[in-house]
Amino acid sequence: MCTYDVIKQCADYLLDRTKHRPKIGIICGSGLGGLADQLTETDIFPYQDIPNFPVSTVTKFHAGRMVIGKLSGLEHTSTNRMSTSVSEIPVMCMQGRFHAYEGYPLWKCAMPVRVMKLMGVEKLLITYAAGGLNSKYNAGDIMIIKDHINLQGFAGNPPLQGINDERFGPRFPAMDNAYDRNLRLMAKTVASEMKLDNIIHEGTYIMLGGPSFETVAELKMLHIFGVDAVGMSTVQEVIVARHCNMKVCAFSLITNKCITEYETDDMVNVADVIGIANNRKADMQELVRRIAIAMNEN
Ligand code: 6GU
Repeated sequence: MCTYDVIKQCADYLLDRTKHRPKIGIICGSGLGGLADQLTETDIFPYQDIPNFPVSTVTKFHAGRMVIGKLSGLEHTSTNRMSTSVSEIPVMCMQGRFHAYEGYPLWKCAMPVRVMKLMGVEKLLITYAAGGLNSKYNAGDIMIIKDHINLQGFAGNPPLQGINDERFGPRFPAMDNAYDRNLRLMAKTVASEMKLDNIIHEGTYIMLGGPSFETVAELKMLHIFGVDAVGMSTVQEVIVARHCNMKVCAFSLITNKCITEYETDDMVNVADVIGIANNRKADMQELVRRIAIAMNEN
């Protein structure tokens, strides 16, 4: 386990090397790291340079660096319709995250969230790629997470396993409103303003261990559970963020429809996942950018 002091060392390392003091953190999923490239006045920290930080192993798909800088909002936002002035807010973006399938324990995958917390981050925006299990979802759609199923926790492997440090949060944290109601409302308003209504959904997410995709039988079971989208990340980050009282909003980019029948030659593959992420990434980035700006004003 990473102790409070180890996390604090990471936070201090970054705080000592950047003038920015972000209150908003963003974790960018596969193919969705472009938002970090839009930041200005950036301070960039490859994960391997941050003391005690995990190092990303799927660097083909994830850059593996922390980018701290300013995000600018040119458009007027839903909450401030008449404003046309440029607002600039400091944010910190993880370009690339850690997954259980890389061999990390869940607490380690989520450790950067605690680093963000000790740096002063209060709200966390998360993006990731997922398969669409809800039959109404199409490749290229976006799902705002309304709720999740913590399957790893069910199985006795929760990210908060082990000694609890009350400086982060309580031993038994609540998980209702894990995905903040107000932020979800705001996200839907912003998506409407971007005319994305026909591709935006709200639903239940489940994280599986991966790296293999699901079998048909597994997907049939998850469908019965009420799952709308399936991925390999995010849940541990959300639990650790809620434990330390950060507000969370998370978006799945649906990169493929899950295959729930045997009589088909369709197959899910990583090239499709990345391809769809590339096609829709501009919308996703813009959505997250606008939400970050709107969040800052509220
Ligand atoms: Cl179909 N399953 C999982 N577990 N993760 C995914 C996915 C599917 N598509 C993108 N990411």
